[in-house]
Amino acid sequence: MITIGVTGGIAAYKTIDVASTLKKLGHDIQIVMTKNATNFVSPLSFASIVKHPVISDMFLDDKNGEILHIELAKKSDLLLIAPATANFIGKLRAGIADDFLSTLVLACKKPIIIAPAMNSNMYSNTIVTENIAYLKSKGFIFIEPDVGLLACGDVGIGKLPSPETIVRLVVNTINSRKIKQDLIGKTYLITAGPTIEALDPMRYISNYSTGKMGYALSEMAQKRGANVILISGPTNLIAPAGVTKIDVKSAMDMYHAVLKYFDQSDVVIKSAAVADFRPKHFSDQKIKKGDDTFILELVKNPDILKTLGDTKKRQILVGFAAESTDLIANAQTKLKSKNLDLIVANNITNDGAGFGLTTNIVTIIDKNGNIDQIPKMSKDDLANIILDKTIAMSID
Ligand code: PMT
Repeated sequence: MITIGVTGGIAAYKTIDVASTLKKLGHDIQIVMTKNATNFVSPLSFASIVKHPVISDMFLDDKNGEILHIELAKKSDLLLIAPATANFIGKLRAGIADDFLSTLVLACKKPIIIAPAMNSNMYSNTIVTENIAYLKSKGFIFIEPDVGLLACGDVGIGKLPSPETIVRLVVNTINSRKIKQDLIGKTYLITAGPTIEALDPMRYISNYSTGKMGYALSEMAQKRGANVILISGPTNLIAPAGVTKIDVKSAMDMYHAVLKYFDQSDVVIKSAAVADFRPKHFSDQKIKKGDDTFILELVKNPDILKTLGDTKKRQILVGFAAESTDLIANAQTKLKSKNLDLIVANNITNDGAGFGLTTNIVTIIDKNGNIDQIPKMSKDDLANIILDKTIAMSID
């Protein structure tokens, strides 16, 4: 059974579609509404779709003498709260249990997905962002709101994502229960994709990374229960559901974003292909073609991974090495100089390895000197091997 908690926001009407789609997919659905939610949508609308009476009263007579919120917590395979108001998120963070839905959440040991929806100023208020960060660290799965025109007329982040997006995350989470949940309570900071280094308003220098490796790592870590922060350069990929995605463009953007989230991370995996250099000068105007040659002066970007290695306290640090010669020797040098726990070395000139493909061929070297040659496999399967190794290094 999937239990859907509905709290008092205008987006509550969209949850009818979510319930209806999940019902059509064959799931048994129980709806729980807060008193405020019933002001936005009639319980009857939900009840007619899911074919069970809606629960909104804490003190219902239960004919079987069961304590209903405890029984429902046990019966549910997953609890989805959509929309979740700032008020409800704040109550959860404080451990307040003063109505049926909040008592149910505290009693529930199954995956809990929270889909916040509210005004953008409320969503970006540090009180709310800190509450969300805290709940994520306790294993709650959050689905990022969409950006768009909000009910209040403002434009910004805060819209409840589409019913399809929510349903996809619910179904994936239920399916992933069959996958081992060994990363619950851990925060994984994963970088993906290329960085782009602007020359002028229309040109940049970059590399061939598509983000596939980093997105595979993010998806697998999320499915295994981790709280995942994905810092991504520009790619065409859709962020895996349930992952917090931070978009960046340049190496400097990535540097600042990674440092911002470093302290709260347990494991950092840097699969992004970061530009080592950027143009010394950015031209506000389009650079005109003049002479037959054009000399471009570059300056070094900070080495993000080395900065983390120099300052890390408890984190497991995983680097990648994109090499075209002397794979092992170069990777070992990077492992030591950046003070890493693991390095995943790929020879980008090998067939089936490196940029843009759905497969990779790598050698994984750890700080204890173990060298593991991994044959060609999908980036999803490789992601799971890398995640297994991060657990082994944490126990070490
Ligand atoms: O994205 P895909 O198309 O799926 O391709 C995957 C990949 C080839 C990009 C990936 O497998 C890979 O090899 N990523 C690392 C690419 C790279 O930048 O390697 P490097 O050897 O130049 O850097 C070594 C490590 O230092 C990397 O973890 C890199 O993220 C990090 N680095 C590099 C430079 C810099 N200024 N800061 C860094 O943190």
